[in-house]
Amino acid sequence: MALLEIKKAGDPVLKKVCAPVEKIDKRLRKFLDDMAETMYASEGVGIAAPQVGESIRAVVVDVDKKNRYDLINPVITFREGLVIDNEGCLSCPDLFGDVERAAKIRVEYTTRFGKKKNLEAEGLLARCIQHELDHLDGQLFIDIAKNITKGRKKTEE
Ligand code: CO
Repeated sequence: MALLEIKKAGDPVLKKVCAPVEKIDKRLRKFLDDMAETMYASEGVGIAAPQVGESIRAVVVDVDKKNRYDLINPVITFREGLVIDNEGCLSCPDLFGDVERAAKIRVEYTTRFGKKKNLEAEGLLARCIQHELDHLDGQLFIDIAKNITKGRKKTEE
């Protein structure tokens, strides 16, 4: 595996709408593993392909260091409730802000082995998936956040 360079806000690749993944093969799986390694090394809970310079619809999330999800061509098919919480992003170092997200979601995606699946999520996992999927459409959390601060406002984590 290899660590990839994380693109920072201001890089044009982060503003592009990503293309669907066409081919699910060994090369893509290696890329997903590299994304995951890069995410873990940066203490992140999610990472989207454009954050490492690839404008394709793939994200990796792992909010508890136990359950890693590789989501290829993910689409949110159900949303319920709204909740506001503080977020950060590997592409926006040291910036935090409050973002309103659906409390509960269902996402349809393709696995790293080409199988169609559905995932229901709430809490941090739901928030993280919504944040990463925004990246696939060229949106950063700082584009929609309120009360953006330098450094974390909350002290509990
Ligand atoms: Co992000």
